[in-house]
Amino acid sequence: GTGWRGIIEAYGDRIGVPDEAEVVSLHEGNTPLVPAPYLSELTGCRVLVKVEGANPTGSFKDRGMTVAMTHAKAAGMRAVICASTGNTSASAAAYATRAGMTSAVLVPQGKIAMGKLAQSVVHGARILQVRGSFDDCLELARKTAAEYPVTLVNSVNPVRLAGQKTAAFEICDALGTAPDVHCLPVGNAGNITAYWAGYSQYADEGRSDRAPAMFGFQAAGAAPLVSGEPVASPETVATAIRVGSPASWTGAVDAKNASNGLFEAITDERILDAYRLLASKEGVFVEPASASSIAGLLATSADGRLPSGSTVVCTVTGHGLKDPDTALADMVEVEPLPVDPDAVATALELS
Ligand code: F0G
Repeated sequence: GTGWRGIIEAYGDRIGVPDEAEVVSLHEGNTPLVPAPYLSELTGCRVLVKVEGANPTGSFKDRGMTVAMTHAKAAGMRAVICASTGNTSASAAAYATRAGMTSAVLVPQGKIAMGKLAQSVVHGARILQVRGSFDDCLELARKTAAEYPVTLVNSVNPVRLAGQKTAAFEICDALGTAPDVHCLPVGNAGNITAYWAGYSQYADEGRSDRAPAMFGFQAAGAAPLVSGEPVASPETVATAIRVGSPASWTGAVDAKNASNGLFEAITDERILDAYRLLASKEGVFVEPASASSIAGLLATSADGRLPSGSTVVCTVTGHGLKDPDTALADMVEVEPLPVDPDAVATALELS
């Protein structure tokens, strides 16, 4: 064998892909579940992070995209379309290339992180910037797919969510059962819906003896699930989750209620604190949206809603390199040095 060959190869019987379909894969999944000693110490819990930035295009979207693209190719489709805050479009662009299809991506102008735009450019996607929000882009993509011969690969396409369930399977397989609590960022709400479906499926099959409480965290400026109503003009530094009207609203609410979980809003300041803490204390570099799960872990630990002693998995959804601008905002500019070891020693205060 050649090792891991992607989530359809590993879990195809639990996802459902057309018989005889040619699998479109970049060997996504099998991402690290890394113990977080600093966060464990802070919270009195056993904390692990599921590092989804380790997927081929740097986010969890690849789990759904391999399934969506496998279906689209089996159906003889030639083109796919999606709306995106950046990661879905990067993934769609890569997997469409892999499938020999073309991709069109609708993104909110000026509101997607630079790394993600770069990915869509190199993979040859047709990039259409829209004067509007992600929610506007999604409505446009849905209407286009309804009227023209192109497949919508947003998570409103149910096969996407089937693929994203596999992260929950991997966690249960690694731990021997489900964690007590699962923290994750929530934007369009597909992922929390998919995780809950995955955990429920494993519990039903007797492959885990529990299902976790689902803790979903939204950015304070884009927190419709917390307030209970759509947000007309969502704003947050965590551009990936800048969503005002989540498509999987009902799925997310069901997951929260059925699991005795919660939704909480996290300010941008807290998101960025958690972003820096995860990178500087645990060595894990994620994009801002992903850090909302860590900020939420800390907030619910501090206010007592996270029982100490719990096993907690936090999904960190996308790689930090996706958004270099946010990282570099913290850089302290210093004068370049001459080529001189004494100057290096002086700069590092070694002498
Ligand atoms: N984290 C990251 C890095 C994301 O890109 C997204 C969603 C989420 C969390 C939230 O997941 O939408 O399933 O609740 N990004 C979408 C996109 C909207 O277009 O890439 P969700």
